Amino acid sequence: MSKPFTTAAVIGAGTIGLSWTALFAGHGMRVRVTDPRPDLAEAVEAALTACAPQLAEQGLDIRDIANRVQLASDVTEAVRDADVVQENGPENIGFKQELFATLVREAPAHALLLSSSSAIPATAFSGELDDASRVLIGHPFNPPHLVPLVEVVPGEHTSEESVARAVEFYRSVGRTPVVERKEIPGFVGNRLQNALSREAIYLVEQGVVGPAELDTVVTNSLGLRWSTVGPFLGAHLGGGPGGYRHMDEHIGVSMKRMWDALGQPDQGPEETERLITAVEKAYGHRSYSELTQERDHKQTAVLAALHATGNTTEENQR
Ligand SMILES: NC(=O)c1ccc[n+]([C@@H]2O[C@H](COP(=O)([O-])OP(=O)(O)OC[C@H]3O[C@@H](n4cnc5c(N)ncnc54)[C@H](O)[C@@H]3O)[C@@H](O)[C@H]2O)c1
Repeated sequence: MSKPFTTAAVIGAGTIGLSWTALFAGHGMRVRVTDPRPDLAEAVEAALTACAPQLAEQGLDIRDIANRVQLASDVTEAVRDADVVQENGPENIGFKQELFATLVREAPAHALLLSSSSAIPATAFSGELDDASRVLIGHPFNPPHLVPLVEVVPGEHTSEESVARAVEFYRSVGRTPVVERKEIPGFVGNRLQNALSREAIYLVEQGVVGPAELDTVVTNSLGLRWSTVGPFLGAHLGGGPGGYRHMDEHIGVSMKRMWDALGQPDQGPEETERLITAVEKAYGHRSYSELTQERDHKQTAVLAALHATGNTTEENQR
């Protein structure tokens, strides 16, 4: 049996690193966090205060959560006795190359070295290392203390043992890991998100709907559906008793014909500025904390409702 996951190092305490910190501490791990930001202590405290009630709603004992988190002055101190390292620094190959060289050198030999990278595959920043067998992607969706999926993506040099341990680790902190066997920029989740975002931007650019109306379309249809069935099971059911086969023959033909008509938005500087202004007009009157609290409250409610059905998201996928 592999060493238990007792101590985590979190490198980079921005949006994602702070949420991981709360999740790991909520699951009883000791967490060492490092980030050069001057307000690190305040940021960690604020994140733990904001996330603790949502972790409690997941059934976790959060009474001692703040005592489990320590600040480290640098990467070497953070990883000293780590069983697992979760990297959440800037999305930049040069940064990740340098950092993972340090991690391989400084972290204990058994420690898993995981990156939250959204689009850069592990081989791109670990290919030159002497030993990249413990380096792989553990890509979450924001915020990772609530959204269950973690895309586990090995690089060319990652060992099978590390893949299995990463799956074991993410399950141990209540996540739903999915192993993806081929490196592709953006992995699966962000490719899907980008395909939808591209069309969403196009529709707003064309004046078909505004940003808030587009969001209403998604949250009241696809978003709701996709929290219970994915696109393939959804289509299988959309075909009625004839299933996916009937769907493909019946509506699929006209759907596929539409592929050629999908939009290619024109995101030059002027169009980008117009889009940003439209989004700010739709949502800019409400504060970040008000909007994130509302989002987290709703997501916690959806997760609790799904849990109450006895189905985990992982079970839905079988
Ligand atoms: N924001 C998202 O929705 C999201 C979702 C999934 C994955 N990710 C990925 O997670 C990673 C972090 O993204 P984020 O949104 O949290 O970014 P962010 O800008 O909020 O945070 C990055 C943090 O890294 C810190 N940092 C910079 N240099 C550092 C160093 N040398 N050592 C330690 N920390 C350092 C910065 O001070 C900052 O706090 C990226 O790779 C991103 O692609 C982001």
